Amino acid sequence: MVIRELRPEDVEPLSAIEARAFSMPWSAEDFARLIKDRNSLYLVAEEDGKVVGSCGVTNVSGDGEIDNVVVDEAFRNRGIATALLRETLRRGYAMGVEAFTLEVRVSNAPAIHVYEKVGFVSEGIRPRFYERPTEDAMILWKRRRDTDTPDRF
Ligand SMILES: CC(C)(COP(=O)(O)OP(=O)(O)OC[C@H]1O[C@@H](n2cnc3c(N)ncnc32)[C@H](O)[C@@H]1OP(=O)(O)O)[C@@H](O)C(=O)NCCC(=O)NCCS
Repeated sequence: MVIRELRPEDVEPLSAIEARAFSMPWSAEDFARLIKDRNSLYLVAEEDGKVVGSCGVTNVSGDGEIDNVVVDEAFRNRGIATALLRETLRRGYAMGVEAFTLEVRVSNAPAIHVYEKVGFVSEGIRPRFYERPTEDAMILWKRRRDTDTPDRF
C-alpha cells in the first residue's frame, strides 16, 4: 500500500468510491477544489496503482477537521483507514494542527473503532445531525498528549 497526496487524476475514481459508500457523497468537483485549498491536506491510499481509500484534514485556526474517511468495500479490514488516519495526524501536526475533530454516525461501529484506536475520544452527541437517513452524530476529538511522538499517537 502506498499513501500519497491527492492528485487531479484521482478525483474521478475517488468520487466513485464515495458514491458507493455514502448517501450524500462528495463529487469530483468537491475533491478538485480541495487540491487547491492551502489549508487542506488530502491523502489517498493506493493498491497496485489503484486508489482504494482516502482521508482529508482542513486546518481551521489550529483545529484539524477530518472528513471523508473512506475505503472501498473490497479493501476494508486490512488496516488501510488506520494507516491513512495515522499519516493524516502526523502531517496535520506538521502543518500546525493542534487538535483534530470529526463526526461520525452513532451506528458506524467500524469507523468509531478505528477513530478510537488512533486516539480520538467522544466529546458529545449532536442530535439528528445526519440526513438520509436521519441519525445522531458522535463528535470526536483527538487532543495532543505529552506522550505523542511523530510516529506514535
Ligand atoms: C470506516 C472505514 C473507513 C474503515 O476502513 P478500513 O480500512 O476497513 O479500516 P481498518 O482496516 O484500518 O480498521 C477496521 C477496524 O474496524 C474493526 N471492525 C470491523 N467491523 C467492525 C464492527 N462492525 N464493529 C466494530 N469494529 C469493527 C476491524 O476489526 C478493524 O479493527 P482492528 O484493526 O482493531 O481489528 C470503512 O469501513 C469505510 O469506508 N466505511 C464506509 C465509509 C464510512 O463510514 N466512513 C466513515 C465516515 S465518518
